[in-house]
Amino acid sequence: MQFRDLRKQYVALKEQIDVAMVGVASTSHFINGPEVHKLEKALSEYVGVKHCITCANGTDAISIAMKTWGIGHGDAVFVPDFTFFSSGECPADEGATPIFVDVNPFTYNIDPSKLEKTIKRVINEGKYTAKAVIAVDLFGLPADYETIKLLCKKYNLLLLEDGAQGFGGSIKGKMACSFGDISTTSFFPAKPLGCYGDGGAIFTNNDEWADLIRSICVHGKDTSNPNDSEAKYNNVRLGKNSRLDTLQAAILLPKFKAFVDYELRDINQIAAWYTDGLRGTGLELPHIADSFYSSWAQYTIRLPEGLNRKVIQEKLGKKGIPSMVYYAKPMHKQGAFAGTDSAIADCPVTELLCDTVLSLPIDPYMTKKDVDFVASELKKEICW
Ligand SMILES: Cc1ncc(COP(=O)(O)O)c(C=O)c1O
Repeated sequence: MQFRDLRKQYVALKEQIDVAMVGVASTSHFINGPEVHKLEKALSEYVGVKHCITCANGTDAISIAMKTWGIGHGDAVFVPDFTFFSSGECPADEGATPIFVDVNPFTYNIDPSKLEKTIKRVINEGKYTAKAVIAVDLFGLPADYETIKLLCKKYNLLLLEDGAQGFGGSIKGKMACSFGDISTTSFFPAKPLGCYGDGGAIFTNNDEWADLIRSICVHGKDTSNPNDSEAKYNNVRLGKNSRLDTLQAAILLPKFKAFVDYELRDINQIAAWYTDGLRGTGLELPHIADSFYSSWAQYTIRLPEGLNRKVIQEKLGKKGIPSMVYYAKPMHKQGAFAGTDSAIADCPVTELLCDTVLSLPIDPYMTKKDVDFVASELKKEICW
């Protein structure tokens, strides 16, 4: 068993993916080919946001959003303490100070009440200008945007939705990657919608920001006249080289169709089988509140405190069941932030999660038999 079996998906979609790859090779339109524009149009319609600009990866997507907003030295950006490194790395890389906020013990997403407390603290201390919130849709579940948006409005903060893990999720039918002033996602292969390498996308309804984003993605090119063929070599600001290859866009098109047609539905069925199979075992299971829909980037449980996670992982591994720990270290404890104000944080829930979470294999192509096997073997290890 694989932790996320990408081969099964390739076998299911082989014909279309092979045609797509050969098509790009034969036209040799490797950069900025028509598939890139087709994908951007399809994704912006699906998410319900005016602009989708693809880029090289989900980390660049966040960095480009930070650059678009001019976030830098002296600015505070509020980030959940329990997330992948990029969420805090990108604002810090622009010179801003990520301020880490504790998360909800059940959704694993940023805790709005703790967010407000932290915003107030930073404003009262006066050392930094509170500028933005980066909320993360961890493991596929959208953050509590209804409350987070109210806080952003109250304290005049920009909201970035880091939807790297959340593409396909929704709240009351409103799609993930539509909640931020700017939202971002990743097409890393193991993500809910993944390509065959690195890839990412940025979403916004703001025309001016969309123009800036397109410029920053290509070395700060002049975007004022789209018909000017020389604009690419007229660099009006510093930018990046951050484009999604045509090949990746071509691969993503049939994968996106499968994602919408059945993968999202199937992975929700698999998560439901896990939840049924593991209920009543003393494990803390994922909580999906009413009106929230997850795209299940991970199925992450919490082991009872005191159980030796490493031993359980080893025992599962011997039975051919891979498992992962996302994440073992709070952001504020990462060495990169040592000695900075980002290391100052009060995040007991994150610390508990880091010690107790365990992610189980999941992908849309798992069978009920696979899920039952994982659940029954896990139960054997934790029932004492
Ligand atoms: C929450 C989160 N943000 C950002 C990223 C960065 O995406 P990428 O790997 O495409 O740069 C990831 C990737 O794991 C992620 O999980």
